[in-house]
Amino acid sequence: MISSRRLVTLSGIVIFVTVGMAATRLPNKPRNLKVLPGDISNEMLDSIMHSYNKALGVNCSFCHAPYKNIPDSLNYELDENPRKEEARKMMRLTIAVNKGYFYYDSAQRPEYLKVVTCITCHRGDPMPADLK
Ligand code: HEC
Ligand code: HEC
Repeated sequence: MISSRRLVTLSGIVIFVTVGMAATRLPNKPRNLKVLPGDISNEMLDSIMHSYNKALGVNCSFCHAPYKNIPDSLNYELDENPRKEEARKMMRLTIAVNKGYFYYDSAQRPEYLKVVTCITCHRGDPMPADLK
């Protein structure tokens, strides 16, 4: 028989572990976003990031740096990989082109316009200046 006290301890551990896992992303923790809207949904962020992989023909680690103590796991909030800042410049460029020249749908936020996108220039290559 498990004593009720041990049961309390045990459920305490279960709750601790469950909360610990969920806490890798606290619901109200602000993201480190300088270009995309702070209130972006997880789905929209995910879809935009996957479009970058496809447009440049790269993996997430092309722009994102790993955790210091967990080298095989990416910490998406870090700005340590210089390509992330490169990408922010590219995002601003793409938004400026869409907003300035192709803003047909004023119900959309300029950050989400998709007339000109990364793939328009990149075509699956991280360095499109070399494409001839
Ligand atoms: C071409 C570069 C690039 C690639 C590839 C890329 N990202 Fe990002 N990611 C960025 C940039 C830049 C930001 C910050 C955007 C901003 O400042 O508004 C970001 C932000 C994020 C964030 C928000 C982090 C926070 O601050 O909370 C997540 C999560 C994320 N990326 C996940 C991914 C995943 C998952 C992949 C692969 C499927 C991926 N990214 C691929 C450039 C990239
Ligand atoms: C108008 C065309 C154009 C668009 C649109 C564009 N890029 Fe680029 N991008 C380039 C060119 C050209 C280069 C190479 C610059 C060079 O050779 O110095 C480049 C380089 C980059 C690099 C640096 C690669 C490296 O290894 O240094 C990243 C990262 C990048 N782009 C991400 C993006 C993302 C993300 C988007 C969409 C938000 C995007 N680009 C949209 C033209 C574009």
